[in-house]
Amino acid sequence: MLKSYSKAVEYFENGVVVYPTDTVYGIGCVFDNDSSVKRIYDLKNRDHSKALPLLISDISQLRMLTDDVSESARKLMDVFWPGALTLVFNHNGHVSDLITAGKPTVAVRMPDNPDLRAVIDKLGKPIIGTSANLSGEPSITSYRDAAKRFAGTADMVINGKCHDNIPSTIVDVTDECPVIIRRGSITEDEIEKVINERACKMKIAIGSDHRGSTLRNSLIDHLVSLKCEVIDCGTSADHPVDYPVIARDVAERVQNGSVDYGILICGTGLGMSIASNKFKGIRAALCNSTFMAERARLHNNANILCLGAEFDVDQNAIVDVFIKQEYEGGRHQKRLDMIASFEK
Ligand code: RB5
Repeated sequence: MLKSYSKAVEYFENGVVVYPTDTVYGIGCVFDNDSSVKRIYDLKNRDHSKALPLLISDISQLRMLTDDVSESARKLMDVFWPGALTLVFNHNGHVSDLITAGKPTVAVRMPDNPDLRAVIDKLGKPIIGTSANLSGEPSITSYRDAAKRFAGTADMVINGKCHDNIPSTIVDVTDECPVIIRRGSITEDEIEKVINERACKMKIAIGSDHRGSTLRNSLIDHLVSLKCEVIDCGTSADHPVDYPVIARDVAERVQNGSVDYGILICGTGLGMSIASNKFKGIRAALCNSTFMAERARLHNNANILCLGAEFDVDQNAIVDVFIKQEYEGGRHQKRLDMIASFEK
């Protein structure tokens, strides 16, 4: 750690520090020192209705701020942290209103700057990581400009270099389908590639007999949380229904292209798969593991996923894999053409 950084620990604890990050110069203090946080608003001339982002050194510090980390957020963190990506999470109530501006969310980033992370690590808690400029003015990227602007007002200005000179990209991950709220050095394409937008835009018909209705209801909630459009083809658990009736409804929707995929559930999944495979163009696959779901899409280009409600398996995970996995094509297509040639 550089000498200036090792001295910074105390200043971050008790005062306000202006410091270089991997993106632009930041201004900060520990996140739980209200009087220093107030000084930051004053020094930046920042409106109190605007929240302040936080910087962390590792994932254990994220747990101090939020209990709500979606699957998409995890993927983005894996790829882009440490780095120029700020993620907006639902906070867990342990972040002061001063920082969140009374909102239910908190913006967090892990900077790609080992010296700075070592300081945050020593502090054992997040720091404020807002840009060190007056509100409305351009970001500061050099020590010279930072010192000119904040000498005599901040308690310490650290001399160092920013690499990107561009503010971070900000993505709201409070929902399963993330939303970019500020463009920065990480592009929209890079973000989309990682979170795989595919799952969010699907239209899915789902049906079950009486034995599958509890699972169907919970899968509908899961699919809606993934931003899929769901067509519920019934049925309720109240009275027995013949599964071929439901299989036909879903199969015909897949057949005529009004939905991307179908999901059919009965006790074992067997009746649903046998019935729906009678329909031309339908490739229904009974899957009771994520491996089967992956292969069903990759090799068989399955268009209906059949599930057995009586299997004690992670059905959400099976659905996730099925709807996200692309068909591999190539050598498999010849075989699918053969199957199609059997259809009368
Ligand atoms: C209904 O009793 C049961 O046969 C059905 O849910 C399914 O398991 C059929 O394959």
